[in-house]
Amino acid sequence: MTGGAGYIGGHVVAALQLRGESVVVVDDLSTGVPERVSGLPLVSCDLASDDAADQVEAVLREHEVHAVVHLAAKKQVGESVERPAWYYRQNVGGLANLLLGMESAGVSDLVFSSSAAVYGSGTGEPARESDTPEPINPYGETKLAGEWMVGGAVRAGWLRAVSLRYFNVAGAGSELLADRFATNLIPIAFERLRAGEAPRVFGDDYPTPDGTCIRDYVHVADLADAHLAVLDALAAGGPVPAAVNVGTGTGYSVFEVLATIRDVTGIATPPIVGARRPGDPATLIADASRIGAELGWSARFGLREIIASAWDGFRAARAA
Ligand code: WQD
Repeated sequence: MTGGAGYIGGHVVAALQLRGESVVVVDDLSTGVPERVSGLPLVSCDLASDDAADQVEAVLREHEVHAVVHLAAKKQVGESVERPAWYYRQNVGGLANLLLGMESAGVSDLVFSSSAAVYGSGTGEPARESDTPEPINPYGETKLAGEWMVGGAVRAGWLRAVSLRYFNVAGAGSELLADRFATNLIPIAFERLRAGEAPRVFGDDYPTPDGTCIRDYVHVADLADAHLAVLDALAAGGPVPAAVNVGTGTGYSVFEVLATIRDVTGIATPPIVGARRPGDPATLIADASRIGAELGWSARFGLREIIASAWDGFRAARAA
């Protein structure tokens, strides 16, 4: 499990442990929190470093690993626009080293963390895996390049893999596992409300019913379960899809998200509407039919449960 000490990784590790699997975590701890994986073997390794492939091979052999879940990556769109080469080195180079280490160690099963960012602006219709991916920033490009690299290794005959295209991940399974970086709408709104400030809406003149952008929010605990579904499908040995969306198929506008936040938190500070944020597509929703049909996964939690769990985690972390 790479990136296991991160926000999403911590939830995947918890889900694996819950069903009794043994896990070894590889994480450079640049944003990861070791307490999230306490009690587990933790190898501190930057997958983009020169000797990473050898380190990966050694870890896989030592722990007799049979499958890899790869989440370690950089994931901030704005930062990727500022530092594209670094994003390519970390995300694409890191994956290359991982695959080289897996091939040397003879480990053939992989779950790859991809992103709805591969779709770019989308069509306005629910995004389907068969749509032509057109990322619009280096972050999305690195995820698409990762899918291509994984696809090449699958065609080369030694790898079996599924890329999970995450939509807007939010929520928390516990205080320890909660997202610690306010880089997305829900945690940013919490931070602002907590500071007595109004949440900001980046544009209300989009071609959507209330004028604000629509996204598909998926609970991080549901997302974690999607990884287990992939591991099970890989272990079963049958055919697997190359890439699947992980979303609910239902979209909510920024105004709807902020209204639910108001209900859950009881903080009534009205939002302020500002200018559009460059690069935001109006609507990005998953067509979630493939993951249901091929992996038997569907989301259990809706927007209110996502926000309530995120708020519990946020409050507990701030109170600590
Ligand atoms: C959601 C909506 C904003 C903050 C990004 C990446 C994507 C994936 C998930 C990583 C947008 C609006 C936000 C605020 C607002 N990343 N907004 N006020 O942009 O859909 O997706 O995170 O794996 O690749 O692009 O998520 O949470 O930033 O924004 O109005 O204070 O909320 O404009 O419409 P986004 P987000």
